[in-house]
Amino acid sequence: MKTLQDLYLHELQVLCSAEMQIKNALPRIIKAASCPDLKAALKSHYQLTQKHLGRLSEVLRNHSVTPQDQTCEGIYGLLQEWKNLQIEEGDDAVVRDLDIIAKCQRVKHYEIASYGSARAYAEQLGHYDDVALLTETLEEESGMDDELTSASIILLCDSSRVPKVNVVNPRAGSGYDSLGHTPLVAL
Ligand SMILES: [Fe+2]
Repeated sequence: MKTLQDLYLHELQVLCSAEMQIKNALPRIIKAASCPDLKAALKSHYQLTQKHLGRLSEVLRNHSVTPQDQTCEGIYGLLQEWKNLQIEEGDDAVVRDLDIIAKCQRVKHYEIASYGSARAYAEQLGHYDDVALLTETLEEESGMDDELTSASIILLCDSSRVPKVNVVNPRAGSGYDSLGHTPLVAL
């Protein structure tokens, strides 16, 4: 790559591959989720992912670039975690939902970082129509991340629903709680 424009178009193509892989993997994770609110949030993520793909295609079309030329290896790696999400007899549904949320948030953060870079390049290159489209997507990605954080907090706060009996805490008695976190101290 010789120019910032080359790097920008490369980033857009990689993002296109990322969104496509996420779209294909989401139905599996939606099926694995138990909490109705989480399931609904993931379904809306699926719809937004289709929207993001549409915007990326529009941006690439404006630069006469085809979307299929790159593979996003980063997202491919993160999605291996989704593939390894096994549903086993005796699993606790809340624990599995928390696992799903963590795995989805890792993907979200990757997307947020990638869209952030792409938007910065677009700004520098003066592609202001692209900046507007990429900003919309970036805001939706952040919104989805916030939604997942809220879902996680709700599940964790409802402590009666999170089984802790198998937690072996090597720090027991040393001022840490059962999850190994330091207690909150009022200042
Ligand atoms: Fe996305």
